[in-house]
Amino acid sequence: MELLTTCTFRFLICSALSDSSHWTQPQMNVQTSSGLLDLRPIKLGVEVRGINLSEPVSDEVIEEIRKAIHKHRLLLFRNQTELTASQHVEVAEWFGEIAEPISNHPTTPNRAILRLSNDWREGYRGVGTKGWHVDFSEKKKPNSFSLYHMVAAAQKGNTDFVPLNEVIESASDETRANWNRLWTRIGKNNVYPLLYPHPVTGLPTLCIHFDQQPETIYDYGTENEQTNLMGSAQLKKEIASEIEKDDRRLIYSHKWETGDFIITDNLALAHHPSKESQLEPAQIGLRVLHRVTVEGTSVPSKTRTVTNPL
Ligand SMILES: *[C@@H]1O[C@H](CO)[C@@H](O)[C@H](O)[C@H]1NC(C)=O
Ligand SMILES: *[C@@H]1O[C@H](CO)[C@@H](O)[C@H](O)[C@H]1NC(C)=O
Repeated sequence: MELLTTCTFRFLICSALSDSSHWTQPQMNVQTSSGLLDLRPIKLGVEVRGINLSEPVSDEVIEEIRKAIHKHRLLLFRNQTELTASQHVEVAEWFGEIAEPISNHPTTPNRAILRLSNDWREGYRGVGTKGWHVDFSEKKKPNSFSLYHMVAAAQKGNTDFVPLNEVIESASDETRANWNRLWTRIGKNNVYPLLYPHPVTGLPTLCIHFDQQPETIYDYGTENEQTNLMGSAQLKKEIASEIEKDDRRLIYSHKWETGDFIITDNLALAHHPSKESQLEPAQIGLRVLHRVTVEGTSVPSKTRTVTNPL
């Protein structure tokens, strides 16, 4: 009981410290500084109403959207059914340089688009299904944004998103201290702090990439440095159980509809498609999802000074 009280108390403190709009009632309208965007809070991030991305968007509105993405971390635009592949790529270019996929499915309408499907003839199957991840976190400068367009939604197949700052805040002091000492190495040269400040907001986040089975290093660069004391499989499991604890309280599970367009602050969230997303078209209907990602601009670092603290 005492433990429960402590956790609840911690949670309240954390909520009060983090951006309060994440926790306001869904019906409430968040006013932006210039009042140009109609934002409605959802469990993680906001739904942006009244913008048709198939039509020209003013520079002022684009600027507001650029600010909103770091503040809210996930922006959902519904009903973008008319959005073309090249318009999807143009929206991604608002945020920086496009990071092209490593390979293109034959059906992709644009080389910047990774086309995913539950039908291998329509797109790549099984991408990202190995666990919680951050897109392209194994790159020297992990990608900064992901933009998803649900071209055809199936009856089932949510994608789960979780805010990593809240995962860190809700972990025990012991777990957090352990994570704080951990680094991961992929290949010869790419060494990442597990826990580091987000390069734009400064909020603590995690660099996770456990598809790659990285080497784990304690106290990297100090005289106490030790390799593989905790295996990457064990660390992956520990992080997953922190993310999913308390009945998945921290997770936003997005039920897709055709035309949904989601922009995420890739470094602030981990995500994971549900197993159901891979069920056969005969069972759940055809699923086609387009993803465009934006190049990162910084190397994860414990000491980096943040560019735009909230
Ligand atoms: C968005 O704009 C396109 C192009 O003008 C139009 O065809 C479509 O109906 C609009 N969608 C909505 C939901 O208003
Ligand atoms: C999307 O379209 C549906 C059906 O036309 C409508 O009920 C809903 O209000 C629209 N949502 C937004 C955010 O425009």
